[in-house]
Amino acid sequence: MTAEALAAEYTTTADMGELAPYAGGPDLTDAASHNGSVQLTWEDGTQADFPLMWLRDHCACTQCRHPQTRERLVRIIDLPETLPEPAVTLTESGALHLEWPAMEGFGVHESLFDAGWLHQRADASRADPLDVDRKTPWTSAIADALPVVDHHAFMNTEAGLSDWLQALDRYGFAVLRNGPTEPGEVIRVAERVGWPRETNFGRHFDVVSMPDPNNAAYTAVALEPHVDLPNWQRPPDFQMLYCLANESEGGESTLTDGMAVARALRDRDPEAYRVLTETEIDFRFQDESSDIHYRAPVIGCDDYGNPTVLRFNNWIRDTLRLPAAEVDAFYRAYRRFWQMLRDPAWTLRFMLRPGEMIAFDNLRVLHGRDAFDPNTGHRHLQGTYLDRDLIRSRQRVLERSRA
Ligand SMILES: [Fe+2]
Repeated sequence: MTAEALAAEYTTTADMGELAPYAGGPDLTDAASHNGSVQLTWEDGTQADFPLMWLRDHCACTQCRHPQTRERLVRIIDLPETLPEPAVTLTESGALHLEWPAMEGFGVHESLFDAGWLHQRADASRADPLDVDRKTPWTSAIADALPVVDHHAFMNTEAGLSDWLQALDRYGFAVLRNGPTEPGEVIRVAERVGWPRETNFGRHFDVVSMPDPNNAAYTAVALEPHVDLPNWQRPPDFQMLYCLANESEGGESTLTDGMAVARALRDRDPEAYRVLTETEIDFRFQDESSDIHYRAPVIGCDDYGNPTVLRFNNWIRDTLRLPAAEVDAFYRAYRRFWQMLRDPAWTLRFMLRPGEMIAFDNLRVLHGRDAFDPNTGHRHLQGTYLDRDLIRSRQRVLERSRA
């Protein structure tokens, strides 16, 4: 095909079968096939090599990518292990056109790549924008600048929802205010984002003082800072606690940026940090119908030793099964971390009011409450859990329309 014919055929942006925006990026100024790759140069000076197999695998034509589901149809296992050099052309609209010669089992095949789409993928080391760590550590001083979103704005506007999602990303918590006090509102709030995650405590749970409790939360006692369900292999990523009534004396809530405290522990007492990140201990919840157990360190880390998952919950810590020689070191480290988690300098304290909801990253931000006196008035919170995948999904979908 001549360059003129191509230019006439491809006057619009190549359809890459993506819902995330990619059009409008810099145009390609040069493309050449060499040594099993296509070398590309864009008008902003960016240069990148794309191996032939990668390009063939990412062909977005309707035979290679399903036009409805946008899922991959092309199977590299059906192609020769070494691909022949394609004819490389730039179209008038700045897209990359490849014409693959016939190969065993395949006729001539054409691939068209949008220049902006390729530009987004020029740096393979660049993470998905939402996977970039945007966490801002905080202390008790955050009380002066709480991430608060109005319930009506959250439920009815994209901006309100987006502000709430961004606060969760950044601070690991967000407050909703001025909501109704109808039972079940916590589920309606969760459904604004995705689907609530069910656990052995149900689709939602009622935090009230009960006569026959199966969990500390269902009593009136104080709750030390903790994460929920560390006894699960995969504890809930996010928790939401919605206040319907709070007339009892006491019962102030607390939030603590446990990830910030864990990093401080690593600086101040590296040995305690090492013990809590390397020593696996048991967590267990048991009642008449469940027995859910998991063994893991109190502080889970990534490959670089940075804390990623906290499992601090003293009342569902199970029998400590460690060699006797390790027991004292564990208790020392555990006590040290606990002392720091209790430090008022790290603790945000507040009274939840009816119609308010806190949502928090259950693996990062620890929550707690003071004891309350159930004889002085009614206290009723409803809670549920949400998966991080659904929080991220809602953010990505919102970002499509904002781009
Ligand atoms: Fe809890």
